Amino acid sequence: MRSPSYSSPSLPETATSVAAPEARSAEPRFHQRHVENTETVRKELLEGLARPQAEISPKFLYDELGSSLFTAITLLDEYYPTRCENEIFARHSAEIVGHAGQTRTLIDLGAGDCAKAERLLAHMHPTHYVPIDISVDYLKAAVKRIADHYPELDITALGMDFFNDLTLSDDVHPEQRTFFYPGSSIGNLPPAQAADLLANIRRQCVDGALIIGVDLVKAREILEPAYDDAVGVTAAFNLNMLRHVNQILGSDFDLTQWRHVACFNEARSRMEMHLRARVATTVTWPGGQRRFEKDENIHTEDSYKYRPHAFKAMLARAGFGQIRYWTDAREWFAVFCARA
Ligand code: AVJ
Repeated sequence: MRSPSYSSPSLPETATSVAAPEARSAEPRFHQRHVENTETVRKELLEGLARPQAEISPKFLYDELGSSLFTAITLLDEYYPTRCENEIFARHSAEIVGHAGQTRTLIDLGAGDCAKAERLLAHMHPTHYVPIDISVDYLKAAVKRIADHYPELDITALGMDFFNDLTLSDDVHPEQRTFFYPGSSIGNLPPAQAADLLANIRRQCVDGALIIGVDLVKAREILEPAYDDAVGVTAAFNLNMLRHVNQILGSDFDLTQWRHVACFNEARSRMEMHLRARVATTVTWPGGQRRFEKDENIHTEDSYKYRPHAFKAMLARAGFGQIRYWTDAREWFAVFCARA
């Protein structure tokens, strides 16, 4: 840590500072701010399916089974990103946290089981931890665990869609926020939207920092197997989307008629996942239908891969400075830390 200014002598003995110890022992707070509207979700899905190039948003990968399959993916030999990122944090956490500077509030974007942030907490001593996920329900068990380990830590769990709106609750102090966005999920966004998200984070960040995981460009021979593994877990992860969509729309996608396809689009610097019709097939749902020709694709996910200098430039354009990054030994993945 930069300056050990926990007991700043310049702080006057006001009512606020007297109340501080009480606030620290408060129970974790849970706010669900994003309310999912089933009609909007259905409309979004139907619009995507009606496009000449059909598409389903990658967010539909993560129903209960899909989330379990993703956890399984992270254990695969071929799926390197999780292991590379873990290696970087295992080796460089102290330095990364040092570069971030004094952190009052750790804001964990897409926190899930909060395991990655929990490892950072060993090196960082924020007074407030703010895990964010689409639903606070996903955060409950992890928050309980962290609250037990760190009784002094104030915790506010937020259920919100931070891609659309990053407005934090009033109890989050505006200064010395460190945003933490590991896992290279930023890769799911097209670069223009990724730049917008970084700019949004920057606007919420005064005298703070961003620590973010980014997957790097590498040989097709490494990338493609990572998204099309020998066990078939990623294929199941992708196909499960159709099952999830059937539940939402009441459609009749027959999973046996589709196969998983993963390819590296080098020109666009992204891994693409598609579902390809094995045969000509018509899918119906209440109020509509669509015919797919044999070998027609539904585009389900992009995962952009960056060159370090390109991501650094994107952070700089978003208004961040003092940009540093750390990689694993093979330079397959990077963790960036930038100051605001
Ligand atoms: C969680 C979005 C980072 O793009 O690598 C894994 C999702 N898709 N295998 C990624 C995913 C196929 C993953 N992210």
